[in-house]
Amino acid sequence: MRDLVFSPAFGNRPSQLVGREHLLEQLLDGLETAPGSRERATVLLGQRGSGKTVLLWELADRARDRGFVVASPTVVSEGMNERIIEKIQDDGARYAKGKRAKIVGGSVGALGFSAGLQFSEEVRETKSFGYKMLQLARRLGDQGRGLLVLIDETQANSPELKQLIITYQELVGERQDVAIVLAGLPGAVSSVLNDSVLTFLNRATKASLEPLAIGDVDAFFARAFEVSGVKITADLRREAALATKGSPYLLQLIGHNLTQYADADGHVDERALRDALASSAESFKEDVCRTTLAALSERDVDFLKAMSLDEGASRIGEVAMRMGVTDDYAQKYRKRLIASGVIAPARRGFVEFAVPFLADHLRDNAHLAH
Ligand SMILES: Nc1ncnc2c1ncn2[C@@H]1O[C@H](COP(=O)(O)OP(=O)(O)OP(=O)(O)O)[C@@H](O)[C@H]1O
Ligand SMILES: [Mg+2]
Repeated sequence: MRDLVFSPAFGNRPSQLVGREHLLEQLLDGLETAPGSRERATVLLGQRGSGKTVLLWELADRARDRGFVVASPTVVSEGMNERIIEKIQDDGARYAKGKRAKIVGGSVGALGFSAGLQFSEEVRETKSFGYKMLQLARRLGDQGRGLLVLIDETQANSPELKQLIITYQELVGERQDVAIVLAGLPGAVSSVLNDSVLTFLNRATKASLEPLAIGDVDAFFARAFEVSGVKITADLRREAALATKGSPYLLQLIGHNLTQYADADGHVDERALRDALASSAESFKEDVCRTTLAALSERDVDFLKAMSLDEGASRIGEVAMRMGVTDDYAQKYRKRLIASGVIAPARRGFVEFAVPFLADHLRDNAHLAH
């Protein structure tokens, strides 16, 4: 069967965003608050596959509809600030089209602009990022336009991000109509560094991408299967919804695989469901569990391996014993892994895995060295 609805790939915009309406409203309301308010700087935290990237793109569209000029999501990297300038000029061109800078006192482009939001050569060559951002914000502000900057894959230790945040704070000081939303893995913000970036991120409004409600997933499956002609009983569909564990990425994988394992008439029986779930789990382990482990230190992985021997929650004391370390030592790993969202506190003295299939994946690969 041809899949008309699901697209399991990172950053792929889904045909419909499930269960994020409330969060989007909250973010958009934040943009309407007074410049400089805490709601105008938001940090979006979520596990791999929780939908950070697609949420940022959706927010970009909706903020544009509300009249904001938006620098579409930029991944934290070298040269990101150059890209942000270009994106603002590009998006803002709608409002500044063709307006040539007035010739004041005989000098062309007294404001430093040549045409629209393009800078004069002198500004381009000699002025700082902060200067350019301030000129852009002022120019857009003159036309009643706010400016929203969206950042993806936040790394607290990036020098470029530091420069951007300093600039944001300067713009706020200048009472410019600016806002910023930064998305990242939980661990990206809880790094041990303690500099100005981290202080800023810690003070910003936090929003987390929680697992989707199973009811929302089930309702979406019902509509999606109708559209793509997949025929499945309500019981099996509910089972499929539960198997997503509320992960948007698993939702896409399972939905897609169900269309692939359905028979020629679109029927999905119990056997097809099992096969679709097994295949989805394999892809999830490959795409999410492996990359999650790759980002951790060897000792962190040892801690997780020791945990994976338990069915369900693990007792810290027991994990420490398996690792052959003291309780104090194990606490350090516990803290770090909780901060990075890989595990979560369970009942007192216990922790459990926070990433679906991670325990399974570790057991599958127990024989492999890290
Ligand atoms: N609310 C949602 N409803 C339906 N599908 C979603 C939703 N959010 C994300 N997805 C789908 O889940 C997958 C992962 O989304 P996305 O790439 O945005 O995750 P991410 O949090 O940015 O992951 P990473 O941390 O690895 O960058 C994509 O296939 C996307 O289409
Ligand atoms: Mg992403």
